[in-house]
Amino acid sequence: MGPVRAHLRIAIDGPAGSGKSTIGERLARRLGYSYVDTGAFYRALTVLALAHAVDPADGAALTRLAEGARIQVLPPTVADGRQYTVRLDGRDITGELRTPAVEANVSRVSAHPGVRQAIRGQQRALADERGVVMVGRDIGTVVLPDADLKIYLEVSVDERARRRHGDLAHQLGSQAPSYEQVRDELARRDALDAAQMRRADDAVVIHTDVMQADDVVAEILAMLGQDHERA
Ligand code: DC
Repeated sequence: MGPVRAHLRIAIDGPAGSGKSTIGERLARRLGYSYVDTGAFYRALTVLALAHAVDPADGAALTRLAEGARIQVLPPTVADGRQYTVRLDGRDITGELRTPAVEANVSRVSAHPGVRQAIRGQQRALADERGVVMVGRDIGTVVLPDADLKIYLEVSVDERARRRHGDLAHQLGSQAPSYEQVRDELARRDALDAAQMRRADDAVVIHTDVMQADDVVAEILAMLGQDHERA
């Protein structure tokens, strides 16, 4: 048996709309670990790129921005239902992470290898501090290849679209996009994110089509059971 780490590092990867942020945040809370949504880094960089009118195709300019930006993903500093607070060079930009302009550009911004390299170092530094649940696309393969537990959430595009459409209909009422529009947008994001989306060979695959988030959390806690009690 190898050395027992006092604080585990748990990687959760999966496509857009797979429930990874809900599951990751609840799991972290149950374990008393920090929760890091790595998509927030790419979204913060996209906010910066839009503010500087940098072309999302300009990898060199975006890499320079990523290397110079101070992006902090912190526990919530305001009790408004947010999962975390993101500061960009000291400014709270949490409310700007999911605007239509960010949604439209983040996949292209995050695809540049130089950008990914710069951001990856900042993400790894967070995992060194204490027990962490880190969610994203490439956590088990690239960011934390030696994570203690790797989970890959698998769920059909139809089910993801159904859930997201339900959320949007709840939030926006008659202003919500149609189910077909939501499904097409998810399929577009899947295609753009495909290069980053990798399943680690040693990841445990959980099919969440017919599972509630709390059931997935319970399954992961059960997998950890013994290790967690020792930790
Ligand atoms: O998970 P999300 O929707 O917030 O991710 C936003 C974008 O960032 C998405 O286009 C994929 C990208 N991303 C990535 O390339 N690698 C990660 N580890 C997390 C997100």
